[in-house]
Amino acid sequence: MHWYEDDDFWVDFADVMFSDRRRAEIARLVGGSPLFDHPPGTRVLDLACGPALYAVPLARAGCRVTGVDLSAPMLERARAACDAAGVDVRLVRGDMLTHVEPERYDEAINVFTSFGYFDHREDNLTVLRNAWASLRPGGRMLVDVMGKEVVAGWIGRPQVVELPDAYVIQRDTVLDEWTRLRTDWTMVRGEHAREVSITSHLYGASELRALFDEAGFVDVEVYGDFDCSPYGQRARRLIVRGTRPPNPPTRAVTEGAGGA
Ligand SMILES: C[S@@+](CC[C@H](N)C(=O)[O-])C[C@H]1O[C@@H](n2cnc3c(N)ncnc32)[C@H](O)[C@@H]1O
Repeated sequence: MHWYEDDDFWVDFADVMFSDRRRAEIARLVGGSPLFDHPPGTRVLDLACGPALYAVPLARAGCRVTGVDLSAPMLERARAACDAAGVDVRLVRGDMLTHVEPERYDEAINVFTSFGYFDHREDNLTVLRNAWASLRPGGRMLVDVMGKEVVAGWIGRPQVVELPDAYVIQRDTVLDEWTRLRTDWTMVRGEHAREVSITSHLYGASELRALFDEAGFVDVEVYGDFDCSPYGQRARRLIVRGTRPPNPPTRAVTEGAGGA
């Protein structure tokens, strides 16, 4: 089993990744970011939605959101969060490697470093191609990860995250000539320690942009945060957004004109 298929991992480390604080921050971010300024009724695919930290505020803002995730326990948490918020979100158990719903969405998002999980470059490209196929012509796909150039600024220094009843030590190691990142997490709760290693692709801005190009997106934009600030050394995130090319305008054919 690959690390990302391990439901226990997502459940055990949920307090670190999906804290109430982060949920509140994202609600503010979705309300203020130009990247989420969608008209009511916009059909949004939240790919690898987790416990619906983005799906809930997007639905509150009037979007018609579908959340897709591989983990049943994460989808249960998503359902509970949507019910508590009183929003209607369609939740689907699915694998981003295979999930396609042709031309169903106006926008697709994959956020909080939920991209690059697959060992082979082609598989991560397939995720983008699948999203392309699930978008209507003119629809947009947004990926948000931690960028390689930014990781280079802090790599090597272990970090400690304090939780109310536990703490987590995070150590990161660059692998395979800076193409992949291994993160080792140790959670210490009372007398028990839980360790996990996760490995994912590490993208620089031009590499992720190139992947979007290869998947067939156009007008590819790169940002350093959800406020659309440029990507640079002090960027908080690496955000890439591309558009599935709109259909060319169809020529009006006059009946009986002989097709000339
Ligand atoms: C880092 S979490 C991010 C969740 C959410 N996007 C957020 O911002 O809180 C990554 C999520 O990806 C899901 N996941 C892992 N592998 C997946 C796959 N192959 N297909 C779909 N979802 C997957 C996990 O279950 C987890 O909920």
